This record gives sequence, C-alpha cells and structure tokens, in this order.
Amino acid sequence: MPNSARPIYRRIMLKLSGEALMGKEDYGIDPDVLKRLAAEIIEVSKTGVQVGLVVGGGNIFRGAGLAASGIDRATADHMGMLATVINSLALQDAIEKQGAVCRVMSAIKINEICEDYIRRRAIRHLEKGRIVVFAAGTGNPFFTTDSAAALRAIEISADLMLKATKVDGLYSADPNKDPTAVRFPRISYDSAIERKLAVMDTTAFALCRDYRMPIRVYDLHRRGDLMRIMLGETIGTLVDQTG
Ligand code: GTP
Repeated sequence: MPNSARPIYRRIMLKLSGEALMGKEDYGIDPDVLKRLAAEIIEVSKTGVQVGLVVGGGNIFRGAGLAASGIDRATADHMGMLATVINSLALQDAIEKQGAVCRVMSAIKINEICEDYIRRRAIRHLEKGRIVVFAAGTGNPFFTTDSAAALRAIEISADLMLKATKVDGLYSADPNKDPTAVRFPRISYDSAIERKLAVMDTTAFALCRDYRMPIRVYDLHRRGDLMRIMLGETIGTLVDQTG
C-alpha cells in the first residue's frame, strides 16, 4: 500500500460465505483458505478500519438443504446456526494465530464457547481495534446469514457491508451460463430485488435498503481486492439507493 493511501471507511461488515472456507474440498474447512482470508482481514484492520465479520455455515450444514431432506425447518436452521459458530471459532483462531485480536459473539447463548452478542459491547470491541465475528446468524430460524450480516451492519453503524462471494459482482444473468451477461458496476436495492439477483436474499437487500446500508459485492478469491475496496477502488458491484 503506498504511504499516502488511506482507507475511506471507518467501520465495515464483511460477510463471508461458509462455502468459501472449503476451498477445493467439498466439506469442512481448508486451513490454507482460512489463513489467507485471515491475513487479508488483518491487513485491513491494521490500517485502522474496524472490522465486523459474519460467516455462513454452508460448508458444514445448510438449513434449507437439511429441511429439503425432511428435517423440520426450524431445527435445520438451528443446526445451520451452530455451523456458523464452528466457522467463527475457526476464523478467530486463524486471526489470533496471525497476531490480531478477535472476539466471537454469538446470537445464541453458548458462553462456555464464546461471548454473547451484546450490541454495545460489540461496538466497544470494534473501537478497541478488535475484529469481531458475529456468530449464530440472527439467532432465529428462517433468517439467512446474509440477513444477519445486514442486521449487524446496521446495528453497529457500519459504513459499508461487503458481500464476498464467488463472482466479481452482480450480473444481468448468470455469467457461468449466459455469455451475454453484463456486470453492473452499481445498482439500486430495488432493481437488485426486482431482478431477483440471487447473490443475497430479499430480506437482506430490503433491510439494507430501508436503513441505507450500502453493499459492495466482490470476488472473495481475488487476493487484495478487500484492501483495494477499502482504499476507494470501485471493484465489483455497489448496491445502494441511487444505483
Ligand atoms: P474489555 O473489558 O473491553 O477489555 O474486553 P475483554 O474482552 O478484553 O475483557 P473480558 O474480560 O470481557 O474478556 C476476556 C476474554 O474472555 C476474551 O477472550 C473474551 O472473548 C472472553 N469472554 C468474555 N466473555 C465471555 C463469555 O461469556 N464466554 C466466553 N466463552 N468467553 C468470554
């Protein structure tokens, strides 16, 4: 990073998919991916940006998938929430192994394992430069971890929510299936919802719209993009009210 470059954000919420943690495997956590993600997050945190994280659980359990296999939906979602706690602890470990301080705060009470989520306490951790991982989704079934990330982003007054995913932004169609698909550099919440752009669910988009939380969707696998976004580069797709 050039000396003159300064981040343009004070506080961010980064949503990582659980599936991203699998790397090339088809289940579980790839330690190399975890290490790389932790390094990128720490690099950003060291510039003074306060970092909140939400990680999904899809690499272990996906509530909707379990429900489809016959498990009661609420139970399946509870299992999914516990999967996010596992991933959050793995992230905390990877972050702390690399010398940064990280707190896991869970929306469901399992305080032998991690702290309970208390909003004011989370903000205090962030102000002290600690990376905070918000675990167990919203604590309620029928909500996704995207909605949890949107909710926590709003609660902690983040300047930006980042959705790190497999594609480098929002497209007019699935770029893997349709060669004419074009990437939107910027799009409004309403267009994203109307076009059913599946990168986030409607509840998450609607929450961000109602509380004007800008979202940047970017490719998790492109090393360095998180930092470049912090420095103001227009990478991926920005979803906001004017888009
Ligand atoms: P400050 O008081 O702001 O300095 O925060 P702190 O987190 O350093 O102090 P605290 O004594 O609250 O926490 C010390 C350690 O205990 C940290 O690693 C916390 O994550 C952990 N901790 C705090 N509360 C809980 C809890 O309810 N359950 C578990 N398992 N760990 C906790």
